Amino acid sequence: MGKIFKFDVVIDAEDMCNRVREKKRLVALIRKQGRIVIYSLRRMGKTSLVNVCSQLLKKTDPKIFGLYVDLNEVTSLGDVAGRFKSHYETALNEQLPLKNVKAHLDALVSRLKLGLPGGVEISLKKKPEPQPEAYIMSLFKELKTMGQHHEIVIILDEFQGIAALRDVQAVLRREIKKLSNAAVILMGSNQRLLYKMFNDKKSPFFGFGEDMELKPIPLDEYLPYMNERFAVANLSIDGDTADYLMRKMNGIPNYINELGSWIVDTIATGTVLTKECIDSALADASKSKQGRYESALYGYSVNQKKFIKAVARLGLVSSYTGQEMSGETGLSPTELNRIGMSLDDAPIISRDTKNRFFILDPFLKQFLEML
Ligand SMILES: Nc1ncnc2c1ncn2[C@@H]1O[C@H](COP(=O)(O)OP(=O)(O)OP(=O)(O)O)[C@@H](O)[C@H]1O
Ligand SMILES: [Mg+2]
Repeated sequence: MGKIFKFDVVIDAEDMCNRVREKKRLVALIRKQGRIVIYSLRRMGKTSLVNVCSQLLKKTDPKIFGLYVDLNEVTSLGDVAGRFKSHYETALNEQLPLKNVKAHLDALVSRLKLGLPGGVEISLKKKPEPQPEAYIMSLFKELKTMGQHHEIVIILDEFQGIAALRDVQAVLRREIKKLSNAAVILMGSNQRLLYKMFNDKKSPFFGFGEDMELKPIPLDEYLPYMNERFAVANLSIDGDTADYLMRKMNGIPNYINELGSWIVDTIATGTVLTKECIDSALADASKSKQGRYESALYGYSVNQKKFIKAVARLGLVSSYTGQEMSGETGLSPTELNRIGMSLDDAPIISRDTKNRFFILDPFLKQFLEML
């Protein structure tokens, strides 16, 4: 079977377009046990990049041990410890022989019991962790010991999930600092929250590690990738049209692939794609998601919806109280200011690195423009 457009999944090397420099840098950083923050707009390919690098490293060093923890929507230190625990146990089971798994878990639990006042019994089943700080400390100690025989990589994804949890940040910062024999990769997609965590002098993660921003993939890399996948349906695309498609998708690989997949499934074989084909495919794909988008808008006030629609029509909005927005919505700057603040963390609207409002999902943008 020929290659297909994949989206909404973590991809492997064969489906990864370009990112050659990023892969090289990340592999080198892991080898030297460095620390890095990878950030980008949502759906740009952070998790996939780290996944591919882990696979590359596994080939040359089968003993490498990766601990991946997803911090999305955690609400307390107990939650975070619970996440570490379940990810750690999964990682052990997946990456080490069974007898070693047991040894590591036993070591962790016995250390935990010793470290607790009165030797309180800890059940491995309980979530969130009753003694979260003790658990995290014990886990990091275990990783340090493991680091004597394995190369260790810690990956904390959706790191903005702990932006409001200073106590969690403080504990993790301290433990990561002690863990000198491991590479640490932090990843996230909410630029505003990440910025606060790494640039606020009072924040525990102030000035942490190096930065890597994942930017859109260049056209000359994406064009052959697309044509390889369009070829399955005997379709083709030229540079100009591919550029048009990529711009319409905000340069985000996930959406580029999603529209590519829709085109493969719906456009007559043998077609040389034009901008009109792209427009009609986008309109149809967006229509197919109407129900989902209608429910996403549910619960927003009339004026909030006006605001959101105006952002969809205007593209990037740097000043949401400015004339453009007043013109589009018919609302006063005071009212726009109030609404803008109320939508600060709304999932439907995003901010770019320059803090401008925009609609990340191009299918949603299209839907809003049609309302
Ligand atoms: N280098 C790439 N080449 C081609 N497609 C890619 C690439 N990177 C990402 N994608 C596309 O983007 C999708 C999402 O990738 P991934 O989950 O790694 O992104 P992410 O930045 O981690 O997203 P999120 O912000 O939701 O965590 C993939 O399923 C794939 O369609
Ligand atoms: Mg991700």
